[in-house]
Amino acid sequence: MFRVYIAGISSYLPENCVHNNDLSETLDTSNDWIVSHTGISYRHLAAEHESPSSMGIAAVKDVLQKTGIAAEELGMILLSTTTPDYAPIPSTACVVQDAIGAKNAVGLDITAACAGFVYGIELARAYMQIHQRPILVVATEMLSRVTDWNDRKTCVLFGDGAAAAILLPSPDGERGVVESLLKSDSSGKDVLKIEGGCRTSTSHTDNIPLTIFMDGKSVFTFAIRILPAVITQLMKNNGLTIDDIDWIVPHQANYRIIHSAANRLGVPESKFFINVQNFANTASASIPIALVDMEHRGLLKPGHKIITVGFGAGLCYGGNLIIW
Ligand code: ACO
Repeated sequence: MFRVYIAGISSYLPENCVHNNDLSETLDTSNDWIVSHTGISYRHLAAEHESPSSMGIAAVKDVLQKTGIAAEELGMILLSTTTPDYAPIPSTACVVQDAIGAKNAVGLDITAACAGFVYGIELARAYMQIHQRPILVVATEMLSRVTDWNDRKTCVLFGDGAAAAILLPSPDGERGVVESLLKSDSSGKDVLKIEGGCRTSTSHTDNIPLTIFMDGKSVFTFAIRILPAVITQLMKNNGLTIDDIDWIVPHQANYRIIHSAANRLGVPESKFFINVQNFANTASASIPIALVDMEHRGLLKPGHKIITVGFGAGLCYGGNLIIW
């Protein structure tokens, strides 16, 4: 059977690690509120000299080295970001392509918010059925640059970071992506957005700063509904039960969302990998950053069955069932 597998994965986190107590020095918030409402303690924030592409490139260089794949071998670079280097052209994928010298690749950005890595894996799988060449899937997010740092309801939630994965044809037809579900419920397109595009700017003299807006409660309600739904559907489609699944790796938005999804599914929380406490919500980078974290902790073994679930603006969502 033709399958596509993740041959290597790396992440990059900016050096500056900020605790909740650092935020409460300038913002009307507290460590207790943030921890009890989100589970977040720390987030990494990019330095002035960094950009979404520079973070992505750091992760990409590491994964190329780890897997021994030369940049010229890449057939495609799929890059997910909510915070492109440029708004909107050229694509950040092309910026990364140029920096690493991947002259035989096609560069393409994915706009699927926090579901972007899940989408990227499936798009890579589809493309590789036709062009059987290595594909790089990158997720890089710098939400600190589009956050209103006076809006305590959103600014405490996000962190910066990047990750990159090399996808190859599976060596044994067993390991790899078994199935993905990609969905979008566009009736929720207004509950999470970054203003500043051509719809909101009426002339070239407008200079609307890009700022994230979120109706947190609506996002929360949506997330706790779709998380169990995606997991259940992927298991059902493949004749699996929760006992067959080794790990569920959800988008790390908020501990309470994961807790609530586990309750609804009747699944022990220990099935879910959770590291939102250390990195906050890094949008589409959160799932691959979690996978790297799991590898570092020795939690991922060959043959493990894992389900990823991403959800975010759009409202886009989906999941991948992967045999590691
Ligand atoms: N510190 C202290 N108090 C705060 C803070 C803060 N940082 N933020 C809000 N509050 C206050 C509010 O002002 C409010 O006070 P009031 O009752 O006096 O008006 C009170 O806390 C409760 O506020 P709520 O907004 O009702 O808090 P809630 O319990 O709903 O939690 C939260 C808010 C954490 C944002 C929650 O709605 C949530 O997690 N939503 C999902 C968010 C999410 O995951 N978004 C990302 C999706 S990913 C993507 O695509 C980018």
